[in-house]
Amino acid sequence: MSQAASLPLVERLGRLSAELTAAERENLKLLLSMAAGGLLVGHARQQPDELRQEALQTAQRALPKLHDGNRPAFTTGIVFLGRTPFFTDADIAAMDQESMASRHRAERFHDHYVSSGAPLAREMALSSAINDFLSERVGPVLPTYKANYLYYDAPGLGIDPHVDKDEFALNVLTMLEHRPADRHSELILYPPDQEPVHIQLAHGESLVFFADSVTHQRTRTVAGESIRLVSFGYHPI
Ligand SMILES: [Fe+2]
Repeated sequence: MSQAASLPLVERLGRLSAELTAAERENLKLLLSMAAGGLLVGHARQQPDELRQEALQTAQRALPKLHDGNRPAFTTGIVFLGRTPFFTDADIAAMDQESMASRHRAERFHDHYVSSGAPLAREMALSSAINDFLSERVGPVLPTYKANYLYYDAPGLGIDPHVDKDEFALNVLTMLEHRPADRHSELILYPPDQEPVHIQLAHGESLVFFADSVTHQRTRTVAGESIRLVSFGYHPI
C-alpha cells in the first residue's frame, strides 16, 4: 500500500484538492455537497446504515478540507452569529426597503426566490467595516460583489442541504423579516462530527459562516409564513 493510500479518505481528498484547478475543485465540491445533501435527506436508504453514515461523515469532513489553509480552526463553520457591529439600524432598514422593492424582480432558484445585484445591497457588501470585521476573524477576504435578496414567502419554500458556490464561500446572511412570530422554517447547519445546529435569526441579526464548507439547509415554510434575507458573498484569500 502506498503512503497516500494509508491515509484516511478525507485526508486523501484534501490532498487531491490541493492538486486541482479551481474549476476542478468546484466540481469535486459539488459532488461532495450533492452526496452529503442526498444522504442527509435520506437517499441511498437501500445501503447499510453504517456505510451511509461513513459516506456522510466523509463528505462533511472533506468539504472544509478542500480549502485547507483558508479555513482556520474550522469546527462548525460559524464565524459569527448575532447582531453585527457593521450594520446600523438605518442600514438594516434601508436593505429591508430595498428587499421589498426588489421582490418583483426575484427569480425562482430551486425552491426559493432570489433577486441579485440590487444597488444598495451591492454597495453595502463593499463596506470596509464588513471587510475589517471578517479579516480580523478569518484573515484577509475579498468581496465577491455578490449580494442577493432571498425570499421564502409562500408555503413549502426552503432549500435542501447543500453547500454554496465559491462566490458565497464566506456568507454574511442577514435576516430582514420572518413572520409570523410563531416560526416554523429554520436554518440548520450540519457540521462534521457534531449535532446539527438549529438557527433562528431575529430581525437585523446575521449569520457569518463558511457556506462552501458546511452543509446547510432552510426547512420548508408553512402557510402564512414569510422570510426575507440578504446574503453577501466573500472570498478568503
Ligand atoms: Fe446556501
